[in-house]
Amino acid sequence: MAQRVVLAYSGGLDTSVAVRWIIDQWGAEVVCLAADVGQGGDFEAVRQRAFAAGAVEAKVVDVRAEFADEYFLPALRANALYEGKYPLVSALSRPIIAQHLVAAAREFGADAVAHGCTGKGNDQVRFEVGVRALAPDLEVLAPVRVWGMTREDCIAYAATHDIPIAQSKAKPYSIDDNLVGRAIECGEMEDPWARPPADIWELTADVADAPRERRDVVVTFAAGVPVALDGVAMPLFELVEALTRAAGAYGYGRLDMVENRRVGIKSRETYEAPGALALITAHQDLESITVERDLMREKARLEPRYAELVYDGLWFSPLKRAFDAFVDSSQEFVTGDVRLTLEPGRCSPSGRRAERGLYDYELATYDAADAFRHEDAAGFVRLWGLSVETVARRQGGLGG
Ligand code: ARG
Repeated sequence: MAQRVVLAYSGGLDTSVAVRWIIDQWGAEVVCLAADVGQGGDFEAVRQRAFAAGAVEAKVVDVRAEFADEYFLPALRANALYEGKYPLVSALSRPIIAQHLVAAAREFGADAVAHGCTGKGNDQVRFEVGVRALAPDLEVLAPVRVWGMTREDCIAYAATHDIPIAQSKAKPYSIDDNLVGRAIECGEMEDPWARPPADIWELTADVADAPRERRDVVVTFAAGVPVALDGVAMPLFELVEALTRAAGAYGYGRLDMVENRRVGIKSRETYEAPGALALITAHQDLESITVERDLMREKARLEPRYAELVYDGLWFSPLKRAFDAFVDSSQEFVTGDVRLTLEPGRCSPSGRRAERGLYDYELATYDAADAFRHEDAAGFVRLWGLSVETVARRQGGLGG
């Protein structure tokens, strides 16, 4: 059995109970690691709660910039949307937390790491596969998966063991929060027909309360990296935050979907990710003017697969690494500006420009400046259709 365990600690009920439970049931020392991935909140209070629960050490790491640059950015450049919609909010935070769990295990001489996920979700998969990919020698423990306690049992356990728990807002939801967005599940939303309650949203306004007048924001990219908003250069994590506020105020960025979890369950999920979705929209649009046709089409075929790998916990894998190399190579000329127009409930591109873009006015125009060689078209089109024309001549018309 493990002697010293680094626990991924959120400060919530489950992970606070897990601290004491690991000590009591498994006789190991517990080091708590809390990662600031942009979820907000009071991390000093989280640290104190870890000690109060019995941790021998509690560490907070601010990984917001690293999360934006090393985790969100590759997914953005891949336009990664799981099942065509979900910008991988939680799926992106698990590998970075896994990486910091491993680093803390080395720092504190631990022989195991632990997480507070249940056995029904994707997050256990991401933590465990991530840790094993980085440190196959470490044991991975999942107390919540084995303890068989209900929420009420946990509250009672905390009370008898004097474990301080955060003021519960009496909302029955399971929420995961980070820079990229928020995931809200459970409660009445377990009925997929039930409308999501109005009070679950924090990053997005109700469309009815959105400003009526449009607003434009210009996103500048350099080689597929968002570098400025309205001409003001800023680090990516600040840019995501700023765009989250801007687009969220217009009620843009909510998702309500039933998705396929890795473990085979269909689950109803709601998300809000206004900044991330706005950036993917802008990035895709800039690619339309800067990326050559065949490269763009092949990349589009890989994008859903990329999202699946990340969703399924294979962030650290040879295929994901190879995809990153492909995506990286595709981004060399994705440099320029996209104007996004915000309207109630919407965020859409209304202009794009790129100095080394492939849009050639003299080829595209119908005006006098036209440089397209019209005489080439007739022969090209005849040969393009020659095969079906031959079928029509020899085998009969193809009109059905
Ligand atoms: N279903 C989403 C995913 O697998 C969100 C998970 C959110 N986690 C949570 N503890 N609420 O990425």
